[in-house]
Amino acid sequence: MRLREKLALAMLHRIDPERAHTASINALRAGMMPSVAPVTSTRLATRVAGLSLRNPVGLAAGFDKNAQVLGPLVRSGFGFVEVGAATPLPQPGNPRPRLFRLSESRAAINRFGFNNDGAERIARRLAGRPSNGVIGLNLGANKTSTDRARDYVRVLETCGRHIDFATINVSSPNTEKLRDLQGPEALSQLVRDVVAARDALGRRLPLLLKIAPDLTPTEIEQIADSAIAAGIDAIVATNTTLARDDAKGRHAAEAGGLSGAPLFNRSTRVLARLSLAVDGRVPLIGVGGISSAQDAYAKILAGASAVQLYTALIYGGLSLASEIATGLDRLLERDGFANVAQAVGAGRHKWL
Ligand code: FNR
Repeated sequence: MRLREKLALAMLHRIDPERAHTASINALRAGMMPSVAPVTSTRLATRVAGLSLRNPVGLAAGFDKNAQVLGPLVRSGFGFVEVGAATPLPQPGNPRPRLFRLSESRAAINRFGFNNDGAERIARRLAGRPSNGVIGLNLGANKTSTDRARDYVRVLETCGRHIDFATINVSSPNTEKLRDLQGPEALSQLVRDVVAARDALGRRLPLLLKIAPDLTPTEIEQIADSAIAAGIDAIVATNTTLARDDAKGRHAAEAGGLSGAPLFNRSTRVLARLSLAVDGRVPLIGVGGISSAQDAYAKILAGASAVQLYTALIYGGLSLASEIATGLDRLLERDGFANVAQAVGAGRHKWL
């Protein structure tokens, strides 16, 4: 981490976490960011669900909920960027405070509840996106919607022309009953509807499904089978957890989803089980508690074709993106892998 970034992070950690987040988005909008060359190599460049990635290290959903800093994020060293979640109508989310730092555990708890500007405003920003870079959108549902499944379709219809992939998020713990959409019947219908909306766009836009880390092995198998039968292109594992595992600190008992280091083992175990269940039918994206190149590599060995992170940026800054991608390149080289794809799943047994 550079000195300027260290000082900026130290300042941000003295203020309320949500205000610190807004300040970082504003700083990026003003052009204040570490400038990095795109990180790529023959080992890092990869194809996942039809997407060509410069490297397999992506930004997870929730950092740029409103697609306000697409340019800076594309230039940050990440191989791909997911923005959102977007819902059809704008909504304020839950009352504040709703984001908590658990510094001693390098973790966070959030209960935002899909606060966002709504699909139309987000679509206008996406329309002005940089033409390079891989940008996806996390699809969500409005809290008061009477037909949540239809919400995912509406967001895709509104924003689908401007993005490279879309993620069906049925795993946020902060919208009551949203996770019920992970049940096999509801999920099959939902995925089929979103696939039909994608087909109507007339482009082969990859559709991803993001799952929770709080699922039993049987549920994981059922989700994999129904989502694949319904036409999903990849699965993202995982979102935040309702468990507290070994999260420490005075905010550990706050309601919401836990992310960061304490989520690593739980989410990687789900990823490995999912990899076993999917058996190569679709690629997987590993998310949860990644804060180093070793963590990213461990997810790949457990079965991920690409990875994403968010919470570690709160503690390590945006320069982590290029640090992790560069470090991953060295680890692949050290172990004699010619490319990412060769390493996928090579250490899965350790997690089962
Ligand atoms: C998230 N996450 C998230 N996920 C999602 O699918 N849609 C969303 O809108 C959000 N919003 C969000 C806000 C905040 C403040 C956090 C910390 C997280 C979950 C995120 O994308 C990721 O799956 C988890 O945080 C686990 O990864 P990390 O953070 O441990 O690297």
